[in-house]
Amino acid sequence: MTHPATFWNKIATKYAQDPVLDEADYNFTCERSISYLRPGFRALEIGCGTGSTAIRLRPHVSTFEATDISEAMIDIAKGRQTQTAPDHQVSFWVASAPDSFADGIAYDAVFAHSLLHLVPDPEALLARVAQAVQPGGYFISKTPCLGAIGMALQRMAMRVMIPLMQLIGKAPPVVRFFSIEGLEAMITRAGFDVVEAGSFPGGKPPSYYIVARRRG
Ligand SMILES: C[S@@+](CC[C@H](N)C(=O)[O-])C[C@H]1O[C@@H](n2cnc3c(N)ncnc32)[C@H](O)[C@@H]1O
Repeated sequence: MTHPATFWNKIATKYAQDPVLDEADYNFTCERSISYLRPGFRALEIGCGTGSTAIRLRPHVSTFEATDISEAMIDIAKGRQTQTAPDHQVSFWVASAPDSFADGIAYDAVFAHSLLHLVPDPEALLARVAQAVQPGGYFISKTPCLGAIGMALQRMAMRVMIPLMQLIGKAPPVVRFFSIEGLEAMITRAGFDVVEAGSFPGGKPPSYYIVARRRG
């Protein structure tokens, strides 16, 4: 299997140039996320890509770290925040998602946007997230649910196409087919209660936004 960083490094420049799929929905979910943040919060985003969301959320918390497995994505993210006020800097660094958590550091909010379906062991990652989020703190994620595509035939076609694209390096090395129910159940099992959820953008497949609060 290709190392995920190899795939994401290769497409980072194009990813940075592509417009967001649905700007209104993106803005809506950013505003919903901001509504949960408080000035004293310590926040972390894993799989932050080119950093736009982290930079946007940064002014609403006290500290914001953001990590990604791809060096090229993190380089672009660092470049993007050159105009940002010094006291609103995001601390960007390269790390795989499970290695982004230092022992003994607790976060008030952890974000993962379009990431959970791309990691080899999402259950283990969620267990790590649950350890790192304070009781009452938030795990906020958005995840394409490829298992929720309307027609069985379309789902079957995706299940054939993606491995073929992976063989020629045109799809990420790990792609999981979550259903919306399966995704919510996995987050709940990890120790969170879902407080808000919805499809943004709704499209096909739905990209499912979930705000979950750590039980404790
Ligand atoms: C679809 S992009 C989403 C980027 C960003 N979160 C966004 O919403 O635009 C997926 C990102 O996850 C990163 N990624 C993939 N596998 C990862 C892993 N195992 N650990 C950390 N980051 C990973 C990729 O490098 C890429 O930047």
